[in-house]
Amino acid sequence: MAHIPVQHGPSASTLGTPRSQIGVVVDRQTVDLKRLEKRVGRVHWQQRVGIEADHATQIFGRGRTFFHIENWYSIHTVIRLTLKALGLYGRGLRNAAAIQIRHNDVFLPHLPKAFDGFTLLQLSDLHLDMDEDYPAALIERLRQIHYDACVMTGDFRAKTYGPFDAAIAALAKVRPHLRAPIYTILGNHDSIQMVPAIERLGIATLLNEAVTLEHGGARIHLAGIDDPHYYQVDNFDKAAANIPPEEVSILLSHSPETYRLAAHAGFDLMLSGHTHGGQICLPGGIALMTNADCPRAFCRGAWRYHTMQGYTSTGSGASVVGVRFNCPPEITLHHLRVAPTQ
Ligand SMILES: [Fe+2]
Repeated sequence: MAHIPVQHGPSASTLGTPRSQIGVVVDRQTVDLKRLEKRVGRVHWQQRVGIEADHATQIFGRGRTFFHIENWYSIHTVIRLTLKALGLYGRGLRNAAAIQIRHNDVFLPHLPKAFDGFTLLQLSDLHLDMDEDYPAALIERLRQIHYDACVMTGDFRAKTYGPFDAAIAALAKVRPHLRAPIYTILGNHDSIQMVPAIERLGIATLLNEAVTLEHGGARIHLAGIDDPHYYQVDNFDKAAANIPPEEVSILLSHSPETYRLAAHAGFDLMLSGHTHGGQICLPGGIALMTNADCPRAFCRGAWRYHTMQGYTSTGSGASVVGVRFNCPPEITLHHLRVAPTQ
């Protein structure tokens, strides 16, 4: 099988680096990417990097849905000009900057008592390089909240391909305002080659992997799958391999499209993003499109499938065009609770 070469572009880690040291930095990136390839395995690595290389100009017919508006850059201009002509563009920008803090109580029957009240902050779909003022707006909200661990459900970059330096630089600005531990997954806007830079910021990336969260002498499990929407490189077998079935487990999945696989894999809670709740909605929050191959009930807010509970964040950023209507951006605090006995 042919080995797909990694494309090295300028990266966040070379920003501001003297020219004489750039060779050393590039060598370090090569070592980091080789280490990452070994960690995720040859097949996952080649599929992810290969599809990223194929991806650059494809609009139709890949991934779980036929049409990917996020990949069709000429339509972005059409939407922007239409909103300007209708006099709605300014209002849409203001809506997109007004990030809400949402609370979601999750009652879990088998949650260890020590985790009663444990709070997870979920950040999703930051698209950090969409607007240079966005990190400051997000930081202002982060200063107002308290939580025990942070999880991120993917989509750091605005575009679906190309350089990611600006997104990483913006993430570096936000990072000091986040409380550790911090875990993330990758979305369909993210390259696997971003992972070393993300992890150098102290944000662990779960690529079909799981970690154990310990608190007060008890433990639960947090797993994360790689993007299931466009790349379809999610692997439940690998992600859940070391999770005892009788213990509480939470899954991070960029898109809610995996709800059936996750429920039947035995997860207790699934946290997702990707849909942006529609981002541009009719009054009442009716999405014009969700960009997800699943029922709309799974595309925004809290939901349940069999015994698994789920939550799909509207995201705190915006993509395609940086506006929102009838669908506020959010950061979400999930408060884990022991379910009362019946
Ligand atoms: Fe997104």
